[in-house]
Amino acid sequence: MLCLLMLTFLAGCLAEDITTKMILKQHWDDNFEGQLCFALTGHIVGWEVDVNFDSPVKHIQQWDADWIEKPTDSECLTTIKWVNKNYKGIHEKGENFCLKFMGNTCGKGTPSATATLVDLTDDHQTLPPLVTKSGAQTTKYNYADVMMKSIMFYEAQRSGKLPADNRIPWRADSALSDKGSGGEDLTGGWYDAGDNVKFNFPMAWSTTVLTWGLIQYKDAYDSAGQLDNMYKSIKWPLDYLIKCHTKKNELYVQVGDGGIDHGSWTSPERMTGNRPAFKVDASSPGSDVVMETAAAMAAGSIAFKDRDSAYSSTLLSHAKELYEMGKAHPGFYSSSVNAAAAYYKSQNYSDENSWGAIWLYKATQDKKYLADAEAAHLPGESWGFSWDEKIGGANTLLYEATKKDIYKQDMVATMTAWMPGGSVPYTPKCLAFRLQWGALRYASNTAFLALVAADLGVNPDEYRKWAMSQLHYALGDAGRSFVIGFGTNPPKNPHHRGSSCPLLPAPCGWEEQQNKGPNPHTLYGALVGGPGSSDDYTDNREDYVHNEVACDYNAGFQSAIAGLQHLAITQKLPTSYNTCGGGSG
Ligand SMILES: *[C@@H]1O[C@H](CO)[C@@H](O)[C@H](O)[C@H]1NC(C)=O
Repeated sequence: MLCLLMLTFLAGCLAEDITTKMILKQHWDDNFEGQLCFALTGHIVGWEVDVNFDSPVKHIQQWDADWIEKPTDSECLTTIKWVNKNYKGIHEKGENFCLKFMGNTCGKGTPSATATLVDLTDDHQTLPPLVTKSGAQTTKYNYADVMMKSIMFYEAQRSGKLPADNRIPWRADSALSDKGSGGEDLTGGWYDAGDNVKFNFPMAWSTTVLTWGLIQYKDAYDSAGQLDNMYKSIKWPLDYLIKCHTKKNELYVQVGDGGIDHGSWTSPERMTGNRPAFKVDASSPGSDVVMETAAAMAAGSIAFKDRDSAYSSTLLSHAKELYEMGKAHPGFYSSSVNAAAAYYKSQNYSDENSWGAIWLYKATQDKKYLADAEAAHLPGESWGFSWDEKIGGANTLLYEATKKDIYKQDMVATMTAWMPGGSVPYTPKCLAFRLQWGALRYASNTAFLALVAADLGVNPDEYRKWAMSQLHYALGDAGRSFVIGFGTNPPKNPHHRGSSCPLLPAPCGWEEQQNKGPNPHTLYGALVGGPGSSDDYTDNREDYVHNEVACDYNAGFQSAIAGLQHLAITQKLPTSYNTCGGGSG
């Protein structure tokens, strides 16, 4: 196998497949005991051993491996294949790894064999070529590269039957029997984070915000050669959300149980547990998730209008129906779906009323939605634009739609709170530090709002510089990259089940979570949770507070990076930006 010098950020060089001869330890009558030893040239996380006997053998017994296809006891064989047991896949570079086994010969003669250890650690992922159009300002970081990789992260999160053009070699079909209580097909969508549950509330928010970024900065995706990939990227969850809207006044909002899922460490392809589905309806309301889903559909209808008008209309009719459902049946979905309460409980659903309505207005220009959005307006600053809180986003779109000063005041209040001297604390290296858990995501989401505010003419120079400072922190300004597979010293051990598991047929379990080597597969483009309040950060797979990845982490981030790319291609990117001390960096 190759050590790809080009991709120096790849998780180490790949080990060689190793071939060895069987050592005959004992042999009497037709009984024999053999041993296979492999001098390991690299850290491995999973392995397969293929043995070729020179003459047939039978009744082979082995204790350190499982059969890939178990033969019957009396069958005479010349080839056998084993794979590591789930608690014995990890071995260190330099180890002389030996396997003993016993068996019987089928005929006369001395048994002899050659065996190959196939390293199941790593995919051989090469990145697709990045086709960028010229004419952009020179930038400190390659935004097009970040956009390409972030789209690949969402591709790695795909659930369901993967299309033929899947670009993630270590991913395959999964969760093909996800269905509703009436047997409705609920396959598809994105796995939430480092786990394998489909939580529609954050998934729909991520879809809305990514789609907003596409609508706002389509030129950026085009210049980065990512327009087609981006349309495919958002269509994946939109198709799933359409399936989840099973009837008028019925919306599935989660597939998979957090408790069951978090209790095991495995990749989507290996999942065997029960995956229950949960819904909201007229008697079990959940207007927060319903309105967010309506927003995603409305945003999707705008994005697809000039690309696939039939799909755009389908999305819009779902958006309208869901909007009416949310309006008629208010309530917290976490009160109807207990399985969601421990993970993605909404604190307030009034913000989704305004957010859903303003997206419907943006998609239809129908004034009744604008009136609803204004009636549901929550004045003041946004604590932190996120899967839970849409105030900052709704007020930005209200200002875009009306140009009313009251909404501009909200936008300014948010930015004042978030910029140096405001109420949001800063790390020493200048990250606006809203919360321990996923700090980079909050800063990136607000950076996206800052860039849109600047587009709308609200303090453009100041807000663009601030957004740059926050996004550049994640890309490397703090001395390292927080984006997997990008930049200097990026994270290699994200809390992410799928990328931590070896290639099939090797099993995967808690041993792989404890693996001292990097995740076998590079989860390109994923933004990790980020540092603690003093810029402290350890690339530790077990640390889900700082080192998990999630669909919602990348959404505002990717849209904001597209915003910087847009500024670079339109020659409007600031050439310097303020640090938190207020000087220029
Ligand atoms: C949401 O927050 C607003 C403003 O604090 C409050 O007036 C409203 O009652 C809250 N709504 C819900 C459903 O919690």
